[in-house]
Amino acid sequence: MMSERPIVVVTGASAGAGRATVRAFAERGFDVALLARGRAGLEGAAAEVEGAGGRAICLPTDVAEWAQVRAAARRVEEELGPIEVWVNSAMTTVFAWFDDVRPEEFRRATEVTYLGQVHGTMAALELMKPRDRGRIVNVGSALSYVGIPLQAAYCGAKFACRGFFESVHAELLAQGSNVAISMVHLPAVNTPQFDWCLSRLPNKPQPVPPIYPPETAAKFIVRAATDGRRSKIVGSWNKVVVGAAKFAPAVLSEFVARTAVSGQQTPEPAAPDRPANLFEPVDRDGDHGAFGSFTQQDRGFWTPSFLESLPNTARTAAEAAVAAARHKVRSFVSSSAVARREARPTRGDST
Ligand SMILES: NC(=O)c1ccc[n+]([C@@H]2O[C@H](COP(=O)([O-])OP(=O)(O)OC[C@H]3O[C@@H](n4cnc5c(N)ncnc54)[C@H](OP(=O)(O)O)[C@@H]3O)[C@@H](O)[C@H]2O)c1
Repeated sequence: MMSERPIVVVTGASAGAGRATVRAFAERGFDVALLARGRAGLEGAAAEVEGAGGRAICLPTDVAEWAQVRAAARRVEEELGPIEVWVNSAMTTVFAWFDDVRPEEFRRATEVTYLGQVHGTMAALELMKPRDRGRIVNVGSALSYVGIPLQAAYCGAKFACRGFFESVHAELLAQGSNVAISMVHLPAVNTPQFDWCLSRLPNKPQPVPPIYPPETAAKFIVRAATDGRRSKIVGSWNKVVVGAAKFAPAVLSEFVARTAVSGQQTPEPAAPDRPANLFEPVDRDGDHGAFGSFTQQDRGFWTPSFLESLPNTARTAAEAAVAAARHKVRSFVSSSAVARREARPTRGDST
């Protein structure tokens, strides 16, 4: 049965930022199509949409599989009506040194996190372009701009998501389309990913502070769908990091090498029976909802704990800048030495 309410599709709707986005759209009068794999989370999300007076449809879907994503999109239009907004939020990752990641794990993280956004965008455009109407929002990260240790699969996928987004955005402009695509680059968010993504780290993974609540992510995702803005970097610290990636990449590399290994782990040892959602959903124990387990730190940029860490952060940044400058001087000196050696006439030269 069709209704007058606009329709949004959210991938990764069962948990985390996607789950908070579902709620935010439902509160703004949308009907919501929920795509993810875990039944418990999908049903929990559907109950929230219905509680806000909207209609929900649960579509268990693996976003790595194009045929499943396309079939889900068609069912949404048959059962709810024309899709107005499509949000690609689904992700997974492997927290580990690159040497500790198996090829099939790297491939799977890439297929879910990168190809999941490609499949979602493809399915949405197939339906939106003939109508010349619709909005797509792809969820990015500061890690779409900076590669950090222990996250090679995720960073590779997120960089790829950004390149893909830029290209499709330019194509839509070139074609004069009224379909808009946006990318929202989130800061660290307190979501279940740190509890259920595959990890080979000795300690429990954590987002690098400052840590924001999932509602902040949802607010900016909904805003991008409404104003159609091309790209948004959320959070002051995120803006600093992205600026550093553009203008001082060597300093940023030094900085993340010094801070991001310990910064991504709590002091708490990882549970030996920790679950992993890489190939299967982790929902046997029920609905995980939007929030992860970092509620105390969960207050954004001006948290007392983040403010306390600023002097250390500033000192490490200054040390990283000095180390990067040293590297530059050393490589300049050694390349000049090579150039001088190569320019020196060899024995037997007639000139
Ligand atoms: N949390 C952060 O600190 C942070 C920072 C920057 C950017 N982001 C971005 O925010 C978005 C959401 O991340 P999050 O932290 O909310 O992650 P999350 O808590 O782990 O939630 C991930 C969602 O993706 C779904 N999912 C995983 N594998 C899937 C698959 N194969 N097919 C379909 N759905 C799948 C999960 O549900 P099922 O397991 O039920 O399928 C879940 O609904 C991602 O794009 C991420 O890159 C997050």
